[in-house]
Amino acid sequence: MLKKTLLGFALLALVSTAIGAAPPNTTNTADAGAATWADDIAPLLYENCVTCHRPGQVAPMSLLSYNEARPWAKSIRNAVSTGTMPPWFANPAHGDFVEDPRLTDKQIDAINRWVAAGAPAGDLSKAPEAPSFDSEWRIGTPDLVLTMKPFTVTDEMEDHYEWIKVENTLDRDRWIKGFEIKPSFMAGAHHNLTYLAPAEFGIGDIQGIGRMKMDYIGGWAPGVMPAEYAEGYGQLMPANSAVFFQMHYHKTPGPGTGGVDQTAVAIQFHDEEPENKLTTMWIVDPVLNIPPGEANYQSGSEYTFPHEAVVFDFTPHMHLRGKAMKFTATYPDGKEDVLLDVPNYDFNWQLTYTPKERLVVPAGTKIAVAAVFDNSTENEANPDPNRTVTWGEKTTDEMMIGFMHYSYTDRANQDDMETHAVPPKLREQMEKMRELRRKTDPPAKESAGER
Ligand code: HEC
Repeated sequence: MLKKTLLGFALLALVSTAIGAAPPNTTNTADAGAATWADDIAPLLYENCVTCHRPGQVAPMSLLSYNEARPWAKSIRNAVSTGTMPPWFANPAHGDFVEDPRLTDKQIDAINRWVAAGAPAGDLSKAPEAPSFDSEWRIGTPDLVLTMKPFTVTDEMEDHYEWIKVENTLDRDRWIKGFEIKPSFMAGAHHNLTYLAPAEFGIGDIQGIGRMKMDYIGGWAPGVMPAEYAEGYGQLMPANSAVFFQMHYHKTPGPGTGGVDQTAVAIQFHDEEPENKLTTMWIVDPVLNIPPGEANYQSGSEYTFPHEAVVFDFTPHMHLRGKAMKFTATYPDGKEDVLLDVPNYDFNWQLTYTPKERLVVPAGTKIAVAAVFDNSTENEANPDPNRTVTWGEKTTDEMMIGFMHYSYTDRANQDDMETHAVPPKLREQMEKMRELRRKTDPPAKESAGER
C-alpha cells in the first residue's frame, strides 16, 4: 500500500505554495466523480478513525454515522491533508508497523472529492454497517479488571501527578497475555503507567530507588492501543502483588473542567504458564541538562543484548521539549539498522510502534536511542525557553525514555532479564563513584549496615 508520509505532506505543501496560482483540489474534482459517504467515506473512517472517534473514547466527536460526520467534513479534509489526523509519527522509510492508521493517497483523494461535492450521503441503505464495539474493552472479555478508587481532578488542577495503590484481587500467580488501560475521565487524563510491586509495598516505597524493584506492565495515553503479547509470551503477575497506577492529569484549569476519574486496567491471562517470559526495557538518559533556548539538545542511551533477543515494540517518551527520537540497532558485524525513526515527536501522542515482522537480533546487538530536544522559541509547545530543563516528573520538566518490550529467544535466559539501561557516560561515573566509595569505606563497614 502506498502510504502518504508526513514528509510527503510537507513537501506537497511547499510545492503548492510555490506554484501559488493553482487553487486547491482542481485536479481532484475535475476528472473523478463525487465521492459519497456510503461508498467511499464510511469505509475509510471505520478502518482508520473510529477507534478514537466514537463515544467514550479520546476524540472530541464521533464519526460513526453520516449525521455525526457531516458537520466535520471540511475539518476532516483539513486534518487529513495537513497530516494531523490520524496521529502517526513514524518515518515510513524505516520499519513497517501494525496498526498504522495512515491513509493512502487514494483515500485522501476520496475525502477531497467528497468535500468538494458538498459531502453527499449517497445511498445510505448501501453504506457499510458501523463497526460495533460490543465489549466495553477492545481486547475482548478480560479475566481481571482492577479499578482504582475515585480520584477527584479539581477545576483548579492543571498538571497533577498522583500515585495510586489499586486493590488487587488476583488469587494465584498468572501470566499476562494482554491488557488494556482506560481512564474514565478522558478529558483530564494525560497518561497512566501501571506497575507491579512486592505485596508489602506502600506509596512511600516507590519513590527513587524503590521504583527499580517494580515491574512495569504498560501504560495508557491518547492513541495508545491495548497490548496483546506475541503468541506464547507472557509477563508474570504474582498473586497479591501490589498494583500501582501513576496517574498524570493535565488540562486547562477553569470552572467546570474538573471531574472524577476511575482508571481501570483490564487483563487477559494465559490459561497456563506460557513458554516464554517477556519484560520491559527502559533505555534512559536521566542526566538531561538542556540550556535555555537550545534548539538541538542531543541525548542518548543504549543497551547491548547479552543474548539473542526478540524485540516486540518501541515507545518513545519525552515531554514538551521532545523533538525527535530514533532507535538504531548495531549488529555484532557492525551493520546498522534504524528500527524506528520519529522525526517530529509530539508529546500529545504517546504512541507505541510494533513492527509487523518479529524482530530477532543476535547476541551483542546494541540498541541505541538518540533523542533531540528543542528548548527554543521555535518549539510551539515550549512552556518556557528561558529555563534550564532537567529530568523530572512534570510535563514542564523532561524525560528521555525509549521503552521496549523484549525477551530472549532461549528460555534459559529469561529468568534474568534486565529492565533499565543508562548511558555509558553515566555508567562510567557510577563506576568511578563506586570505586571511590570502596577506597574511602572499608568493606566491613559497608556490609555492617543491615537494617
Ligand atoms: C488515536 C486516536 C485518533 C485517531 C486514530 C484519529 N483521531 Fe482524530 N482526533 C483525535 C483526538 C484526541 C482529537 C482532538 C485533538 C485535539 O484536541 O488536539 C482529534 C481531532 C480530530 C479532528 C479535529 C477536530 C477539531 O476540533 O477541529 C478531526 C477533523 C479528526 N480528528 C479527524 C480524524 C480522522 C478523519 C481520522 C482518521 C483518518 C482520525 N481523526 C483518527 C484522536 C484520533
